[in-house]
Amino acid sequence: YILILLTVILSLLGWNPSPKQSTPAKPQTQSTQQKAPTTVSTINDPNNILVVVNKNRPLPNGYAPSDLSGNVRSEAKKHLDELVVGAKSSNINFKIISAYRSQSAQASIYNGYVKRDGQATADTYSARPRYSEHQTGLAIDLGNSDGVCDLEICFGDTPAGLWIKNNAHNYGFIVRYPSGKTSITGYQYEPWHLRYVGIDVAKSIHSSTSTLEEYSNLPPAPSY
Ligand code: DAL
Ligand code: ZN
Repeated sequence: YILILLTVILSLLGWNPSPKQSTPAKPQTQSTQQKAPTTVSTINDPNNILVVVNKNRPLPNGYAPSDLSGNVRSEAKKHLDELVVGAKSSNINFKIISAYRSQSAQASIYNGYVKRDGQATADTYSARPRYSEHQTGLAIDLGNSDGVCDLEICFGDTPAGLWIKNNAHNYGFIVRYPSGKTSITGYQYEPWHLRYVGIDVAKSIHSSTSTLEEYSNLPPAPSY
C-alpha cells in the first residue's frame, strides 16, 4: 500500500515508472531507414539484395533464389534491362555471358578450372560452390556483343568496360571485384562482373571507390 501511494505521488511529480507506456518514439522516416541498410540481418540474409558473399561468407548449402526472372532475380533484372537500354543509347551493345548459377553449376565450373590451373590459381578468379555471388541471382557477367575481350581484363578498356565503370552505379550495379582491391575481395580484377545492390548503395560504393566489404564494414576476405 505504501509502495502504491509512493508511486502515485512520484507520478504526480512527473516520474514515469514505466517508460514503455510513454508516447512511442516517432517511427524512422523512409529516407533514414534507407541510409542505414547495412545491418547484420541484411548482409547475412541470402535473399536480401545487400547480402555479402565472399571467401569468408558462404551461402546456405543448396541455396537458390525464389524470384528468378530468366536467370537474374526480378528486381535486378528490371534494372539490368534499363542498363542495357541506357548503354544502347551510347552505342554500347552488351551480351549476358553468365548470371544465376546453381550450386552444382558453380561446382562443375570451379572443378574444371582446378583441373586446368590447380586450386590455388583457380581460387584467384573462380569461387567454390556456395561461395559464388552468381548463386544469389544478383551477379551478371557482361560482354561485348561482338565478343571482344570476353571475361578478360582487357574488357575493362573497351568502350563497354569503360561505360560500366562510369555508369553502372546509376542503374544499381557495382563492379564487384575492382582493380587494386584483390586483398579485400579475394579476387582478381573482373571488369565484367556486375553485382546488383540497388541504386543508393551502388552510388555510394562508386563515389567512394570502395568495395561491398568496405561498405558493409566487413573484414577483408582474401582467402578461405
Ligand atoms: N568469378 C567469380 C568470383 C565467381 O566465380 O563467382
Ligand atoms: Zn561473374
